[in-house]
Amino acid sequence: MQYSEKVMDHFMNPRNVGVIENPDGYGKIGNASCGDMMEIFLRIEDDIIKDVKFRTFGCASAIATSSISTEMILGKKVSEALEVTNKAVAEALDGLPPQKMHCSVLAEDAIKAAIEDYLKKKNN
Ligand code: FES
Ligand code: FES
Repeated sequence: MQYSEKVMDHFMNPRNVGVIENPDGYGKIGNASCGDMMEIFLRIEDDIIKDVKFRTFGCASAIATSSISTEMILGKKVSEALEVTNKAVAEALDGLPPQKMHCSVLAEDAIKAAIEDYLKKKNN
């Protein structure tokens, strides 16, 4: 299996790892069949993503996709962050091995879950 340099970089030096206390949005996505899990924490002000942190229990591809997707949404509007697809995330990493594409879905789904949580809280 061949990983791109970007995948290796984000796996070895993941960006935005951690937790935000009392986040404005929180998402947790798990894959029950394998036990892999990803959490996203968002700090949002005026509909802009001001801070994002993640925790991922998964393989190198899952960690790399989590890391780069946090970079892709930081500073973006909520509506723009919702448009980040797992395909765009994989492309930003210069590709993932085909059998690892499903790992990038964790990142997309966790971001969407965290934004949905934010929107739900906001509209209450
Ligand atoms: Fe669990 Fe890939 S094996 S997400
Ligand atoms: Fe399980 Fe990638 S997260 S194989």
